[in-house]
Amino acid sequence: MYYHLTTFGCQMNEHDSERIRGVLEESSWLQTGDPEEADLLVFNTCSVRETADSRLLGRLGEARRLKKERPDRIIALGGCFAQNLQTRIFSDLPFLDIAFGPQNIGELPALIEAVASGSGPAWSFDDNPMPSASLPSRRLNQSRAWVQVMTGCTNFCSYCVVPMVRGPERSRPSPQIVEEVKSLVDDGVVEITLLGQNVNAYGLDLNAPAGARDNFSGLLSSLNEIADLKRIRFTTSHPKDLGEDLIAAMRDFPKVCKHLHLPAQSGSNRILTRMKRGYTREHYLELVKNLYSQVPDVALTTDIIIGFPGEKEDDFHMTMKLAARCRFDGAFTFLFSSRPGTEAAELPGLVPGKTVKRRMKELLALVQGIAAEKNEALVGSRLDVMIEGRSRHGGGLLRGRTSGNKIVNFMPLEPVENLEPAGTVVSVEIRSASFTTLMGVQVDADGQR
Ligand code: SAH
Ligand code: SF4
Ligand code: F3S
Repeated sequence: MYYHLTTFGCQMNEHDSERIRGVLEESSWLQTGDPEEADLLVFNTCSVRETADSRLLGRLGEARRLKKERPDRIIALGGCFAQNLQTRIFSDLPFLDIAFGPQNIGELPALIEAVASGSGPAWSFDDNPMPSASLPSRRLNQSRAWVQVMTGCTNFCSYCVVPMVRGPERSRPSPQIVEEVKSLVDDGVVEITLLGQNVNAYGLDLNAPAGARDNFSGLLSSLNEIADLKRIRFTTSHPKDLGEDLIAAMRDFPKVCKHLHLPAQSGSNRILTRMKRGYTREHYLELVKNLYSQVPDVALTTDIIIGFPGEKEDDFHMTMKLAARCRFDGAFTFLFSSRPGTEAAELPGLVPGKTVKRRMKELLALVQGIAAEKNEALVGSRLDVMIEGRSRHGGGLLRGRTSGNKIVNFMPLEPVENLEPAGTVVSVEIRSASFTTLMGVQVDADGQR
């Protein structure tokens, strides 16, 4: 029996999909890349913005057709969109057989069995204490892996559905995380990305006595000790919980990558308050100043929302000024999307579409210009690049990533046929740059071609 899996959304969902593959393959399902061939179609969904919903609904057209063609096919919807709608989903999408939340991946085989036995649609949306960390997992990447340090989110930013669909913030005990990373490393993994909606709050909810309680920088310190692990990344950091100790960890622990993704969302205090972000513009700028002075070669990226209800021209200018001051290496920019059930959906002051688009254009021009300047400043330098595979540009080029998370396409010393395995770190001299990527040539230990 074959299953076909489609994943939408963030890295959390990508990682959950590894568990979906894990539990299905443990109950003898085989993966296929061809939906026509599949007996089971699984969609792991996202609901963070309206565009995520419409992308999903577009793809479900095909599922509806495939179900009509062969009614014994099973269609399953998991993840945040499913959790958000719960059982209403079956009246909205009558061709569905199964719906399950991000905390119910382990129940998928039982749900499939129930449907196969003919008892009609099946679902599970319970809140599980530690949802999926212990489930079997099947990774697609040999050298890099995600590791979940916590689940859920309790911040309730006023625009965001994540706390509604992912349950409360819960940290995994650090010995468990360290064990998982060690076994990944035994398996050939050299780079890990620690995942959580707010990794800076890691450990705050653990009921250990104060001395035994681990915080995020403590966890980084333990992971930094693991031999044969080369790189440690993490995402996402929340400005309200980012402490001096994390900046020190980035400065002092050689395996911790010099990249911080620190969503600002807005540069206006008025809007930050309405967003319920829990920090001010001044606090954010102070963090960034501190970061750049302690970790000079750090790459800083961010998320910004444009057109939040009540955003006036002044507020937008504060965001532009913040972006100019912070000189981000990259920024994900989003148009505000009103999500039913969130506080922001009830806020007055919707910004007209034309204004939002104009602001977005201005912001993009600014952040892309700065990102290009920062990348151009790297031309002529030699950077450690971890190989990820062949470059999409062809022509014998390889593709890899710097510690600062910049993608580098480069000409290897040896022809690409003798490809050094993914996960090898090589030295690359940067020759040119765009706002998204770097281009270069590999050099040997003496800096020679
Ligand atoms: N936990 C992370 C973010 C997860 S969602 C954090 O707090 O940083 C990723 C990004 O999507 C957010 O940073 C935000 O910029 C954007 N986003 C979330 N909800 C949104 C909405 N309703 N409209 C527009 N953008 C949104
Ligand atoms: Fe959403 Fe805010 Fe939680 Fe991030 S911290 S997931 S933006 S509620
Ligand atoms: Fe991620 Fe989307 Fe859920 S961003 S947490 S998959 S709503």
